[in-house]
Amino acid sequence: MFKWANLFSRDEVEKDILSPNGRLRCHFTLTSGRIYYSVYKNDKPIIKPSQLGFLICGEEPLANNFKLIREQKKRHEETIELPWGEDRYIANNYSESAFYLTEKKDPKRIMTLRFRVFDNGVAFRYEIPPQPKFQQISIKDELTEFNIDLNSTAWKIPAYQPDRYEYNYEKTNVFNLQSSVHTPLTLKTPTGYYLAIHEAALYNYGSMTIKLNERQALKSDITPLSDGTKAHVALPFSAPWRLIMLADSAIELTTNRLIYALNDPPTDDFSWVKTLKFIGIWWAMYVGEWTWAPGERHGATTTHAKEYIDAAVRLGVSGLLIEGWNEGWEGDWLENGINNKFTVATSDFDLEEVASYARSKNIELVGHHETVGFIDNYEKQLEAAYNYYAANGVHYIKTGYAGSMMLINGRREFHHSQLGVNHYQKTVELAAKKRIMLDIHEPIKGTGIERTYPNLLSREGARGQEYEGGAITPSHACFLPYTRLLAGGMDYTSGILDLANSVKRMSTTLARQLAYFVTIYSGMQMAADRPFIYEERFPREFGFIRAAPTNFERTLPLAGEIGEYYVVARKDRDSEDWYIGGVTDETGRRIHIGLDFLSTGVYRAEIYADADNAHYRDEQFAINISERHVGRGEALDLYMAPGGGFAVKLTKI
Ligand code: NOJ
Repeated sequence: MFKWANLFSRDEVEKDILSPNGRLRCHFTLTSGRIYYSVYKNDKPIIKPSQLGFLICGEEPLANNFKLIREQKKRHEETIELPWGEDRYIANNYSESAFYLTEKKDPKRIMTLRFRVFDNGVAFRYEIPPQPKFQQISIKDELTEFNIDLNSTAWKIPAYQPDRYEYNYEKTNVFNLQSSVHTPLTLKTPTGYYLAIHEAALYNYGSMTIKLNERQALKSDITPLSDGTKAHVALPFSAPWRLIMLADSAIELTTNRLIYALNDPPTDDFSWVKTLKFIGIWWAMYVGEWTWAPGERHGATTTHAKEYIDAAVRLGVSGLLIEGWNEGWEGDWLENGINNKFTVATSDFDLEEVASYARSKNIELVGHHETVGFIDNYEKQLEAAYNYYAANGVHYIKTGYAGSMMLINGRREFHHSQLGVNHYQKTVELAAKKRIMLDIHEPIKGTGIERTYPNLLSREGARGQEYEGGAITPSHACFLPYTRLLAGGMDYTSGILDLANSVKRMSTTLARQLAYFVTIYSGMQMAADRPFIYEERFPREFGFIRAAPTNFERTLPLAGEIGEYYVVARKDRDSEDWYIGGVTDETGRRIHIGLDFLSTGVYRAEIYADADNAHYRDEQFAINISERHVGRGEALDLYMAPGGGFAVKLTKI
């Protein structure tokens, strides 16, 4: 819109930034010293004018007094190749405008606001350069708003809760978001657009949660430190990217990979990083057969470890996780974790012997560090603990941060606060130096930093299958692709086939456990049940788990609705084979899958599908396993029972 004011003054500014295809528009406004943005798709408002800026401790707000010095525009077109993941190639195409701002009055502080407008989302970040008398700042609040229609639907998990991100997703309306929720926060506007508000490249800052403010706009609520501030930073400082992913359908939203586009490429050699499938001395503890702590039923003994290594070889799985191998699990391990020792094994476990046996059998060990959130204790040992594993040829570590808060510098801090974020980062960087790959449980949420640090192969960060046995409903895994998984892969501990176990009963069918290896991507993918279950009871079903890749060339979401169902096809990175997985909530569904994505030629389809009588409650094991030849242009019609799913392997012949 033409404004006379624009001709005469840089104090009142309105600027449009158009996405490469012109359909998405970000509108930047500077009026009466305040900065706002809004977002339009096809000229329909998605985000109404939303305020930007900061409150700084002991200083005037960095928000109310700006004028524009300069706008710098750029177009960027790039295809990024990722070493592992759901898609090998990611588009990084955007129009960028950097607005260089200065305060009109003393102290005339300066700040840059950088916007990137993609065809499938808008991102922006604050960059604060060092300046006289403004070099070290404590952020009291970040004012960023995401002013979306209050009648939009939201799928949320609550923030600041003792179990971190491990809650069931709930469908609600934006006008109900009075208390903070985590991101990615998935939303649907009354006009039918799908959005997820998230952040990318979260470094040295509190993680962003979201809630309504007094003017009924969604606003960032940065996880505070125990001193009440949001972050202490030295300038120059770039805040994490604020990201709004946008799509026309729920299923389209699931392939938004902008978190990776917004992170930097690696600066080191990571060619040593390899995705992994592994079994573990793990589920036996959950079903009460073994214990983490030493004693008669101790799981992590040298003998058990060697037996599991042999089982991994027979099963054709490359890795073995060993939990409960170190000192610190006695008694109430959650309470006592402050004393955990990460270089001292229990007397019945000999790491050197186990590691050398694993090496002789070509099995990668996955080490384990359960910190219980006692960061002071862990950081004191970090270097030695990684060296200990590295010296024994252990290249993978699963870390854990159970406990409702972290203890850092003697104070209770949120996992997702600036100090928590910095701790996780320290582990990722140190691990990279030692050529160790990580799977972080109770993690900081994914913000795409795996692009820069590909050794961060996976995280948990949502309810996983350890919550089965009552706390997981069939809809949970149908929410994840549209919510948590927008933040990257997840170690869901898939493949529990002992479904009717009296201690931990699964709310799934058998076919659905196989489907998870396709519907839930993880760079470190666990086949989580005990090996004898696979070998003795389900050797045929395990064939699918063995084959399922941990690295894909391409991901093609086929159908789904948030919390209801999800069907996805993925092409293996190392072959011409495709894998299809589907999961549904409590409702049974028939799905028609056109196979037009296949290349020409004949494929053998191995199909693991729920039988007509299958049901997650009482007919969990009713499965039909069949084979047929298919080709491009043909289709598969598959049934998913209530709480069920299917898994298909398409091998090119
Ligand atoms: C919680 C983790 O998610 C789980 O996988 C692990 O076994 C326990 N903590 C103990 O470390």
